[in-house]
Amino acid sequence: MEFLGVAISLALILLTLVYVSRRRCDVGGAKLPPGSFGWPILGESIEFLFGKPEKFVGDRMEKYSPAIFKTKILGEKTAVICGPKGHKFLFTNEHKYFTAFRPHPMQHLFRSYQGKGAQPQPQPAQTQRADESKIIRQPGFLKPEALTRFLGKMDSITRHLLETHCADKEVAEVYPLSKTITLTLACHFFLGVNNPERIARLVKCFDDVTVGMHSLMLNVPGTIFCRANIAAAAIRKELITVIKEKKEAMAFGSPMHDILSHMIVVTDPNGESVPELEIADKMMGLLTAGYSTVATTITFLMKYIGLSSEVYEKVRAEQMEIAASKKEGELLEWEDMSKMKYSWNATCETMRMVPPLQGTFREVLTEFNYAGYTVPKGWKVYWSVSTTNKNPDYFKDPEKFNPSRYDDGESPPPPYTYVPFGGGPRMCPGKEYARLAILTFLHNVVKSYRWEVVDPNEKVEGDMMPEPQKGLPILFYQY
Ligand code: HEM
Repeated sequence: MEFLGVAISLALILLTLVYVSRRRCDVGGAKLPPGSFGWPILGESIEFLFGKPEKFVGDRMEKYSPAIFKTKILGEKTAVICGPKGHKFLFTNEHKYFTAFRPHPMQHLFRSYQGKGAQPQPQPAQTQRADESKIIRQPGFLKPEALTRFLGKMDSITRHLLETHCADKEVAEVYPLSKTITLTLACHFFLGVNNPERIARLVKCFDDVTVGMHSLMLNVPGTIFCRANIAAAAIRKELITVIKEKKEAMAFGSPMHDILSHMIVVTDPNGESVPELEIADKMMGLLTAGYSTVATTITFLMKYIGLSSEVYEKVRAEQMEIAASKKEGELLEWEDMSKMKYSWNATCETMRMVPPLQGTFREVLTEFNYAGYTVPKGWKVYWSVSTTNKNPDYFKDPEKFNPSRYDDGESPPPPYTYVPFGGGPRMCPGKEYARLAILTFLHNVVKSYRWEVVDPNEKVEGDMMPEPQKGLPILFYQY
């Protein structure tokens, strides 16, 4: 009886809160976008996180407006801007109306150095996502010159790992393999680390952090967020050791080819070096950004190529021509990458079918009007690849995997409809690195193997970042 009374009171309080929050929809006469803030406190986070994110967006575009709708996700009032016009508005008004924003779980996971108790400060949030971006956009990093230097190494690491993990094996799970390869490459390029045991320890931790970036901030044992926090602490500990080792090596004149070495020597305008914990967090942010997206793309690329002998043959023909132009043991070079046109089209089509990253957030700097609605200052804005990538108005037969749709001579997708790397000033700075890593993998795998996907209907899990439920087992046949 007592329980029933408490339950009824709680229900009444919740209903009142919903009513009040809905009454506040239109503030000061401004016409807010249509939509719902959902439940008090939680908003619509559960639907956003535990349904398919593209379904979340698609359903609401249909129900409220194909241009813009409001919601409350991950603790923030959010306007979701949709379609090519929305993408254009967002990508061309960066700094004027928008600044970068990371959801709170991400801020928490990547900002341990902000103070005791690791509580992130709410206000500088908008600058936080910019941090890794600032480092990575520094002149020199991830520019063709640096990537060209690294390409041979990328090729030999990929070749070696493929041999180790696939030769003499009939079945291999592609997702764990591609994660090991991409994390090994990222550790090498960003940190100058190439110890396989250390990398193996990190893979599991990065998986937990990646999943926790978009989760409910419930830090109790057993939750996704709690696991992510434990993993972030383990990565940080490992990175602090790496930083100390690197400092020592640098003191003995070791060359500085990686991003970590640069972070160690860089100073602020007062001549202060960056504290070790801060370097660790920033490197963790960079590694996370550059790791799972590439691994996901490789995984689904293997799936789609494995399901189409026509696509396989075309990719193999292109790659074998490049291989035939090389002497025994000669590694890939920059010019080779520009010859991989069809292979890149297959990669682009994979990212259209399964976007490695659904979308990102911004914070509103100044109130603005869009599509007849007002979005107030301080709200968050979310954009998503899924508002255009499978729309038949822009992609004929959208469910069909068809790399030839990007061929020269075909009409290209209309502007702002194909945006797997985002756009405008915040467009992914790792795009070129990702292209090289994926094509290098494809070159090596197709040269040595044919393959068959064990379960073509394997379920795809994951919210913002998709993954195959069973790791995509594949039957490999070596030539
Ligand atoms: C297939 C691989 C990848 C995909 C699909 C991808 C996609 C994206 C997307 C959609 C964004 C958001 C852009 C926006 O908010 O407008 C982004 C941002 C970012 N990406 Fe990537 N990415 C990939 C690989 C990488 C790699 C390899 C790195 C690092 C080497 C990287 C580093 C970053 C960083 C630092 C940002 C934040 C940029 C900023 O806020 O200014 N990404 N990426």
